[in-house]
Amino acid sequence: MPSPQELLPWLEHMHAVRHYSNFGPLVKELEMVFAQQFALDPEQLTTVANATLGLELVLQALDLPAGSRILLPALTFVATATAVVRAGHQPVLADVNERTWLLTPEIAYAACERMRLDAVLPVATFGMPHDMRDWQRFEQQTGIPVVIDAAAAYGSQWLQGAEGTLVFSMHTTKSLPAGEGGLVISTRPDLAAKVRQLSNFGINLDPAASMPVGALGSLGSNAKMSEYHAAIALASLQKWESHAQERRTLYANLMHEMDQVGWHKLTWQAQGPGGPLIAPTVLCVQLPDAAGRAALEQACQQARIMTRRWYQPLLQHMEVLQQRCLSLDTPNSQTLAQTLLGLPFFWGMQAAPRQRVLDVLKQVLSKHTYEL
Ligand SMILES: Cc1ncc(COP(=O)(O)O)c(C=O)c1O
Repeated sequence: MPSPQELLPWLEHMHAVRHYSNFGPLVKELEMVFAQQFALDPEQLTTVANATLGLELVLQALDLPAGSRILLPALTFVATATAVVRAGHQPVLADVNERTWLLTPEIAYAACERMRLDAVLPVATFGMPHDMRDWQRFEQQTGIPVVIDAAAAYGSQWLQGAEGTLVFSMHTTKSLPAGEGGLVISTRPDLAAKVRQLSNFGINLDPAASMPVGALGSLGSNAKMSEYHAAIALASLQKWESHAQERRTLYANLMHEMDQVGWHKLTWQAQGPGGPLIAPTVLCVQLPDAAGRAALEQACQQARIMTRRWYQPLLQHMEVLQQRCLSLDTPNSQTLAQTLLGLPFFWGMQAAPRQRVLDVLKQVLSKHTYEL
């Protein structure tokens, strides 16, 4: 996160104009930067308070019939599914590719053969980008709208000249941190404008609209990004390139070092057709089997090294979601849910903490024999 000193000029600017929320100058400046980065009109995007509300409002803005079936991967953060349920729809859980850990267009085509689907919500798993040209083709061939949950993929996921809808997170754990924040980008006519209106209670602010400014145009929520958060995002942007470079280098070095001590028994997320991870934020490794994962987890705990079972348990195994979801066959997701482990990975991670993780890994993998 930017330091207080780095934030100060932006906060001074905000305070000088006495504009603290409600689409103020800093939010507008941030949106202009995004519009340039994505080569879009500023009307084709909007900032929001967080990615969860961004997803929920995009689903609302798509105007699908209540109870629509939305295909999403079983292996994802809970917010992908809760946004669908809160928007009044039913998640249909699909598998992911065993190498890229992504819900691919092939998986979505196969799901369409089995049942009626009303939208697809693929996730840029751990920030791995999708090829938007493939998804544009899917939309054109099936008529089914696609929204990418690109929460963890700022800097990696681009439109690549295709049509598409992307939702990013600017949570403090993501590559462009604003504390809390989100960004919705869409080339669908009026979708971003609808989300913007929904993020401001649904109030019409467009003088050219058929209703007066201030009238309620839709049943919205409050999901605006404040000027405080935009200040943090703008300060974060100033260091983004160097931070992303450092993250990439650290990620590559850690993978290399772990492969050395792990005798290549570890599997890493493979690059998808959408290109490489530009700004990795988590390091998730796949162990050969569930026993290996449990052993590494336990050894890390004993060494007081924190680990995470990211995106686990699978959505269909969470009681609150169980009755609300339909589930397709998910063999790859099930294997991943037994074998993935998130290891320490943070900006500025020095040699000493890296060595501690490597030592534990070496100790665990040397004890276990695997059928390879
Ligand atoms: C795949 C995915 N979707 C949605 C979210 C939610 O983002 P936010 O915290 O901005 O609401 C996250 C956050 O980690 C995520 O990983």
